[in-house]
Amino acid sequence: MEYSLAFDGVVFRYPDTVKPALQGLSCAVPKGSRTAVLGHNGSGKSTLLLQAVGVLRPQQGSIMVSGRQLGYNRKELADLRRRAGLVFQDPEQQLILSTPQDDISFGLRGTGMEEPEILRRCGKVLELLNLAEIKDKPVHQLSLGQKKRTALAGVLAMEPELILLDEPTSYLDPQSEAQLLSGLERIHAAGATIVMATHDMNLAYRWADWIIVLDRGSCRAAGTPEEIFAGHAVLRDAGLGLPLLAELWYSLPGQLTRGQQAPRNAADFKSALARLLGS
Ligand SMILES: Nc1ncnc2c1ncn2[C@@H]1O[C@H](COP(=O)(O)OP(=O)(O)O)[C@@H](O)[C@H]1O
Ligand SMILES: [Mg+2]
Repeated sequence: MEYSLAFDGVVFRYPDTVKPALQGLSCAVPKGSRTAVLGHNGSGKSTLLLQAVGVLRPQQGSIMVSGRQLGYNRKELADLRRRAGLVFQDPEQQLILSTPQDDISFGLRGTGMEEPEILRRCGKVLELLNLAEIKDKPVHQLSLGQKKRTALAGVLAMEPELILLDEPTSYLDPQSEAQLLSGLERIHAAGATIVMATHDMNLAYRWADWIIVLDRGSCRAAGTPEEIFAGHAVLRDAGLGLPLLAELWYSLPGQLTRGQQAPRNAADFKSALARLLGS
């Protein structure tokens, strides 16, 4: 399998803390996947993401992005910025300028890109994330969902092959969540690898095609959603619950569900039930 991101034995301790936040973390994100990084609060999800984009640097071990080991000089970090982009949990940390249009073009200008290309890319991501109508609205007047999509647009404008998002749907209402996810869907369809740190198990279950379970700074399990969610013990040991649909499915009598793929969204669940009841 080809990997977009791979951690090998990464150890990292924040200054003035006793326990390392990452304790020999090894895990990998398949190229082209939609990967969910799951873990309880403090398990190291955000630290993993910050390491992946070079904001934090391992004290031991190494990190590869699209097959190349990360280096930390200015040139290497600038190059990494074009290959991997992180959307912070809090858009306030990310948005610098007053309007979506200005904010997105600012990042591109920093790369020395020509003005027509900046305009073209801005237009493209504003369209993609449904922000065109509010491109000139002051950022402080935007809703949280719009701010999150603006932050994502700024990352996308760099056209990275790897996009990482830290708790992207937290505090979003269902409509804003749906808009964000549909934007991600289009980006994924265009070939990007997407990594999302979340503790929303229901979201991870229906969205991801690869799961990494973190527990106290190391990888407890990795695999397809079918593999991870059928093994309740791994999740329980990592302090996580089961997604509601998985809990319902795996509570059905085994002779009914045997050999059937566990449905991962409400619509599939309904048709699976209809089949079971009809038979
Ligand atoms: N800036 C920081 N300074 C010191 N410790 C930190 C800092 N950020 C996170 N940590 C610690 O590192 C560990 C991992 O945190 P984090 O990566 O934020 O986990 P998660 O995102 O899964 O909640 C936790 O023990 C947390 O308290
Ligand atoms: Mg976090």
